[in-house]
Amino acid sequence: MTREARLTIDTGALRHNVAILREAVAPAAVMAVVKANAYGHGAVDAALAFEEGGVDWLGVVDLDEAVALRRGGVSLPVLSWLHAPGETFERAVRFEITPAVSDLAQLEACAAAGVPAVHLCLDTGLSRNGAVESEWEALFDRAAILEQSGLLRVEGVMSHLSNTSPQEDGHQLASLVSAVGSLGERGVNPPLQHLAASAAALSYGVAGRLTLVRFGLALYGLSPFPDRTPEDLGIRPALTLSVPVIGVKAIPAGEGTSYGYTWRAPRDTRLALLPIGYADGIERIASNRASVLLGGRLCPVVGRIAMNAMTVDIGPDRGADSVAVSLGDEAVLFGDAAAGHPTAADWAEATGTIAYEVVARLSHRLPRRYT
Ligand SMILES: Cc1ncc(COP(=O)(O)O)c(C=O)c1O
Repeated sequence: MTREARLTIDTGALRHNVAILREAVAPAAVMAVVKANAYGHGAVDAALAFEEGGVDWLGVVDLDEAVALRRGGVSLPVLSWLHAPGETFERAVRFEITPAVSDLAQLEACAAAGVPAVHLCLDTGLSRNGAVESEWEALFDRAAILEQSGLLRVEGVMSHLSNTSPQEDGHQLASLVSAVGSLGERGVNPPLQHLAASAAALSYGVAGRLTLVRFGLALYGLSPFPDRTPEDLGIRPALTLSVPVIGVKAIPAGEGTSYGYTWRAPRDTRLALLPIGYADGIERIASNRASVLLGGRLCPVVGRIAMNAMTVDIGPDRGADSVAVSLGDEAVLFGDAAAGHPTAADWAEATGTIAYEVVARLSHRLPRRYT
């Protein structure tokens, strides 16, 4: 019996999701966003599955993540869009990574390093990275000069939506389209124009998708919409988090469990001990709120989730509430609703967050197995 919690990632589901989403947004090209360890799925393995599934690009936050993909044997084009001040971009040349540049200094550094192609990252309203509109003229003028002198190609132009409302997203789209026009007036015509991530790509039709969409969450088989399940979208969750039972203990009515006795047994019952906790990326706030699938039943997480352990109520050892559990049985924290598992969305709802956070916070140290 292994003592360890484990993430099982169904690479067939990742490839299936590529096929479904690619068809949904055709003729736009597809970038798989594999930042944050591929939303907890394991960056290199997920990237290789997406590569096999036929995505056109991979997207990551920074050059560290991009270099890790190259070292793992990933050969697809990789875009990275968040850079530290003073970044020299020499690694971008060495590892054939395409930077998205957010300002003139980054553009100049790319040209100086000999980066062959960049995307221009524009802030159309998110107020995070990306050049703001007042900087566009200088950035576009310089990009045009660099391109005309053969020093560097502007292969793409990108922005990122706030997903606040269709109106506000529409303003951002209009702003990006006008930027593409201004670049065109300077003779710069980037073939890759991209703005939409999962939610926009699946909501806004062909105009909003431009020539490339950047899919993160949906490619992992999770829905970006509160009112549409993965099944509604035809996608399949790829990740299952399971953990073996390492202890079963009978406790009398009134007995508490874990720190602070935030839960006391309402009746004589049994607790199953699961070796997973907040050090593995399970939110402590899920204490007394979430459930796991064990012995064919949903069993509530009771008492405080600790650093490396949690307990679930499996009922008395006989009667209607009793769940048949033996040491070594697997409890599923979340996975695919179609298999009867609780989902990342269930955990998100129980803890007041979003499925993105539930998967992205899963610790790197959890063993990942690919099927
Ligand atoms: C710039 C950028 N593009 C695309 C994505 C993918 O978003 P989603 O997971 O909603 O598809 C992200 C994720 O936050 C992002 O930061």
